[in-house]
Amino acid sequence: MTVTSDPVALNDWYVVTFEDEIAPGATQTTRLLGQDILVVRDLEREFHCFLVEEDGSKTPVPQLKRRYGFVWITLGAPTHDIIDIPQFKEEGRTFFHRGRIGVPSSGQRVIENFFDLAHFSFVHTGTLGGYESAEVQRYSVQLREEGRELWAVGCSFYQPKPSVAASTSATIYTDYRIPSPFITILYKDSLIKPGQKDLIGLFVQPHDEEHCTVQSFALLFDTGNSITHLLHFYHEIFMQDRAILIQQMPKKLPVHARREIPTISDASSVAYRRWLDRSGLEFGLDRTAE
Ligand SMILES: [Fe+2]
Repeated sequence: MTVTSDPVALNDWYVVTFEDEIAPGATQTTRLLGQDILVVRDLEREFHCFLVEEDGSKTPVPQLKRRYGFVWITLGAPTHDIIDIPQFKEEGRTFFHRGRIGVPSSGQRVIENFFDLAHFSFVHTGTLGGYESAEVQRYSVQLREEGRELWAVGCSFYQPKPSVAASTSATIYTDYRIPSPFITILYKDSLIKPGQKDLIGLFVQPHDEEHCTVQSFALLFDTGNSITHLLHFYHEIFMQDRAILIQQMPKKLPVHARREIPTISDASSVAYRRWLDRSGLEFGLDRTAE
């Protein structure tokens, strides 16, 4: 496996592990953008990453940062920092690492699925959606930060069981932020603290163009549920998504929308594909014209 030559993919930041996953003195092997990586945590709890070449030689990764509880690296020369998530500094929120799950598909397929409202009723029937309430209400798609970020705002959806904390059905109001091709964050009305938003985010690590690992976190005001309970709810939901994701073909995300038939509820999906197209990214995308 050789590293991609796509400069847009190389010049970005990616999570390669969750800090607490590696004990001091332990190592982990992984892959990013086709490049084999060795992650080392020394006995002083510091992290070091190495590029592992096919002959076994190792070169230190020049840029590594620890942020939000994760280890981030870049294989290129980004002109921007890791995305800012100011809610990590807010009082009163509890951070949950929701684990990592491997998906044999492109990272972009995972991101697109995450903010696709139309799938709730058919994939998460009885929790995030139901057959009687499948209609997607209008929402708006916006470019922010001079076009670097894509947002879907004003989304609403009737959900039979919107979260592990929910004892009744509710219409949930959400915004979705896509600040990089492989990161998405959901801002969702808190059921515990009215007027505030809970955050659920995905940091996707693309191993190659058709395999990725999804690291997920939540920043919640809900502290009344055990971590086990939260994880069981999330894993039930994500396994339903994963069953759909592994069926989607091609595994690389088509950027030319006509290859799959869009409907009105797909405004954010169409916008994501166009935004990816304009970014010049090649990695993980199917640019085949119809
Ligand atoms: Fe889903």
